[in-house]
Amino acid sequence: MTLGVRAVVYDRYGPPDVLRLEEIDRPVPKDDEVLVRIYATTVTRSDCATRAANASSGLVVSFLSRLYSGLLRPKRRILGSELAGEVEAVGAAVREFAVGDRVSGTSAGRFGAYAEFICMRESAALAHMPASMTFEEAAAVCDGAILALMCLRYADLRKGRRILIYGASGSIGTAGVQLARYFEADVTAVCGAKNVEIVRSLGADRVIDYTREDFTKNGETYDVVFDAVGKLTFRRCSASLRQGGVFLPTDGIENLFLVLLTSRIGDKKVAFAIPPRFTKKDVLFLKGLIEAGKYRAVIDRSYPLEDVIAATRYVETERKTGNVVLTVN
Ligand SMILES: NC(=O)c1ccc[n+]([C@@H]2O[C@H](COP(=O)([O-])OP(=O)(O)OC[C@H]3O[C@@H](n4cnc5c(N)ncnc54)[C@H](OP(=O)(O)O)[C@@H]3O)[C@@H](O)[C@H]2O)c1
Repeated sequence: MTLGVRAVVYDRYGPPDVLRLEEIDRPVPKDDEVLVRIYATTVTRSDCATRAANASSGLVVSFLSRLYSGLLRPKRRILGSELAGEVEAVGAAVREFAVGDRVSGTSAGRFGAYAEFICMRESAALAHMPASMTFEEAAAVCDGAILALMCLRYADLRKGRRILIYGASGSIGTAGVQLARYFEADVTAVCGAKNVEIVRSLGADRVIDYTREDFTKNGETYDVVFDAVGKLTFRRCSASLRQGGVFLPTDGIENLFLVLLTSRIGDKKVAFAIPPRFTKKDVLFLKGLIEAGKYRAVIDRSYPLEDVIAATRYVETERKTGNVVLTVN
């Protein structure tokens, strides 16, 4: 007999209201898998882009997105990648986790976290939850932080290196500020007025309010410009890069071409960390930072799972501060 559990599913690409609650069979873990009872997940920009898969982001982007997620309709019916919860059952070969363990991580491109239960491989990007974090906080750690980490690995950050983080108030941005600070770089963060204080509290050495000052016109230069929100172009910020500097985008298909071009011409480079890779090693690295008091998840709003459409609409405003959580169970 199969047990029915709740999940948010979608069967066609489209606006947020293609999402709906449905009862599905409770998944059963294979030998190398754990079954996690999810208490919190998040709505990310990746969830939204995958669900929309629309031509407004450009035909090439839409095609590439569908190549991965299903050309005509979604191959995976359940979105959501970040999660925190409790191990409900383990497969016969699982050694790292036991029933009752509190865990958090990300299923990344496999999705499946907008649900009461998920099966994940023991070797996936999953670890014991950081001590003293709530499920909501733990769920909001991995996506933005691992994406930021992947980008910053191209930046050779260390004491004395100057980085400017544009869009420092988003999920990737709030993570980027804290990680750059951890790597002892000199951090200038750019965000809107309402987020200046929170971004400063994350460790930025200075914060520029983009509604009052254009960082490309103030004469300052940086070793690294990290566009954590996908709103800058290499062309626009090139004069703000020092000789040998690097531009790190998070969006924009044209940046793939610029990676190739700048590897051959000029001494300012573009480095684009795609496709993203989410590993257990990185989840454990972040757990270490959190437990050492050097990283925290920034949460803007929480919604119950059944309000996923409202949560998604909010994320699609592109104005959230940090992360948006869905509470489950
Ligand atoms: N490379 C990958 O694999 C990958 C994966 C996932 C997402 N992404 C991309 O990464 C980017 C960031 O995702 P995210 O989830 O971190 O973003 P997000 O949380 O949705 O970013 C929202 C924040 O960006 C700020 N913002 C909006 N417009 C801005 C502008 N013109 N200038 C400066 N700040 C602005 C908003 O602050 P204000 O309200 O104050 O403007 C808000 O706090 C997106 O472009 C997304 O598509 C890439």
